[in-house]
Amino acid sequence: MRISILGGGGFLGRKLAGRLAHDGKLGGSAVASLTLFDLAAPPGQAAPFPVMTVGGDLVDLPSEAIPEGTDVIFHLAAVVSAQAEQDYDLGRRVNLRGTDTVVDACRRLVAGGGKPPRVVFTSSVASFSGGQETVLADDARQVPANSYGAQKAAAELMLADASRRGFLDAVSIRLPTVIVRPGRPNRAASSFFSAIAREPLLGLPADLPVPDNFAAWVCSPRRAVDWLLHAATMDTTRMGLDRSINPPGLSTTIAQLLRAVDDVRPGASGLVRRVEDKEIAGIVGLWPPAFEAIRARTLGFASHEPIAEVIRAFVQDDLETTRIERGLPPPGG
Ligand SMILES: NC(=O)c1ccc[n+]([C@@H]2O[C@H](COP(=O)([O-])OP(=O)(O)OC[C@H]3O[C@@H](n4cnc5c(N)ncnc54)[C@H](O)[C@@H]3O)[C@@H](O)[C@H]2O)c1
Repeated sequence: MRISILGGGGFLGRKLAGRLAHDGKLGGSAVASLTLFDLAAPPGQAAPFPVMTVGGDLVDLPSEAIPEGTDVIFHLAAVVSAQAEQDYDLGRRVNLRGTDTVVDACRRLVAGGGKPPRVVFTSSVASFSGGQETVLADDARQVPANSYGAQKAAAELMLADASRRGFLDAVSIRLPTVIVRPGRPNRAASSFFSAIAREPLLGLPADLPVPDNFAAWVCSPRRAVDWLLHAATMDTTRMGLDRSINPPGLSTTIAQLLRAVDDVRPGASGLVRRVEDKEIAGIVGLWPPAFEAIRARTLGFASHEPIAEVIRAFVQDDLETTRIERGLPPPGG
């Protein structure tokens, strides 16, 4: 199994690469090689198989990013929500034209006699809109309320059509907001969902731009990686023409999330400051907070763990590394 991760230097790309290195196989087949591609060549990864790292621009994709014989491409490279809203040209270029480049790369593999590679694409909950009361059915229309969501929805359609034509074999997963993101705040509009857990657990303040009863559709990095791996080897004939999946995430309120933070570090949520931010609240306020996600369960996508486990997993997997990376003192230090 030859695998490429586009966006392999990002948050989920690194988590996915780490899991592949740990497992050594995908869907029961040994991993023969892994290529990690990002704007700058990502750091290498200790693994029981060769790992190549390639730097470059998705829109001008170097051929080494998707070598001949590639079986699975995880297409995670993107300009994220708030940045794509602020910089229309950049978002459109990377999220739309970048995906087009991936289609062309797959066409070249097929024209050279290769099998259409599986392309696992990370779409987003942001490709939908709806108020706080919404519970979206699997056949709900994507009506994006931001350019990032529109670019993701358009990319899904391009990949579904390319699958129908036999250029590739796509599964697009409309990821919920992934929490808790390690490191520092990023330029996603949803960045605060992670910040209000991560920063207080590090002993630092964080700003909350929405009310405590605000509900969100979230998933953990562990579960997101499980879904990506499942999508890489599942039987796509069961999907028909519809190559997009609403995965079984978790609907949580801010209050529930903060309670889970306090369970791990009593009183930590006192570091969360209520600070109005109309721009951020305006973007995330239109993302639906819950989905039925029946089709995903039927297709074998794993159910979600409770919010308390999400916070505990962050503490186990990422808190200490984040503290060290950011040069922060140990707890009580
Ligand atoms: N993290 C979330 O909450 C979330 C939610 C829904 C969907 N998604 C999607 O999942 C994917 C991964 O998300 P993430 O949180 O790891 O994001 P990330 O920003 O950490 O990673 C994306 C990577 O893409 C790379 N990239 C951007 N422009 C590029 C270009 N022109 N050429 C090559 N690489 C480029 C970035 O350098 C970055 O490393 C993205 O497609 C994102 O839209 C994420």
